[in-house]
Amino acid sequence: MFIVLEGIDGCGKSTQAKLLAKWLEKEGRGVCLTSEPSGSRIGVFIREILSGKVDVDPKTLALLFSADRYEHLKKEVMPALDKESIVVCERYYHSTIAYQSAQGVDKEWLQDMNRFVLEPDLVLFLDVLPGLALDRKEGKEIFEDKEFLEKVYQEYLNFDELKKIDGTRRYEEVFEDIKAAVSPLLKR
Ligand code: TYD
Repeated sequence: MFIVLEGIDGCGKSTQAKLLAKWLEKEGRGVCLTSEPSGSRIGVFIREILSGKVDVDPKTLALLFSADRYEHLKKEVMPALDKESIVVCERYYHSTIAYQSAQGVDKEWLQDMNRFVLEPDLVLFLDVLPGLALDRKEGKEIFEDKEFLEKVYQEYLNFDELKKIDGTRRYEEVFEDIKAAVSPLLKR
C-alpha cells in the first residue's frame, strides 16, 4: 500500500507522517517512511537549490524533482512495496504539479514528464492556509513565501483525488482524521 502526504510548506506533513508510520507499525505492519526530495545525490542537489545556494530555471528544477522521483520509486518505494510494506511518503508528483506550475511552468508539460509514476492508493492533503503554515516555519527555503504559497495552495485545490484533512487543529485531532482515512484501506 502506498500512502502520500501532501500540502504546502509548514502544513504539518512530517509530524503526521511520523505518527502514521508509528501507528501502522503498532498495528503490526511493515512500514517504509520516506520523503521527496529523497536522500539521493539528485535530492542533495535539489536541497542546495531550495536553500538559495544554486539558481536554476524552474523547468530545470521540475526535471530534477522528477528525476529524483524516478530514482526514489525504483530504489526505495517499489522494493518496499514488493516486500508488502506500507509506504508512507511525504510529497510526490502532486508537489511538482502544484509548486512548479505556481512557478509558471506549463502544467501539461509537467504532467507528461511524470507519466512514469505509480499511482498511490491514498493521497492525504493537509489543508492549512499559507498564513498559518508560514507561522510554523523559520523561512529558510526559497518557496517559504506567502504570496507564492497562495498560488501553490490554489493549485492543490485543482486535484480531484486528494483526501482533504483540516490541518489547522491540534495535531492529535488531525491524526484522528488521518487514521479514519487510512483504516478502511487496511481491511482490504
Ligand atoms: P519539504 O522538505 O517537504 O519542505 P517542507 O517540510 O517545508 O514542506 O519540501 C521541500 C520543498 O520542495 C518544498 O518547498 C516543496 C518543494 N517541492 C517542489 O517544489 N516540487 C516537488 O516536486 C517537491 C517534491 C517538492
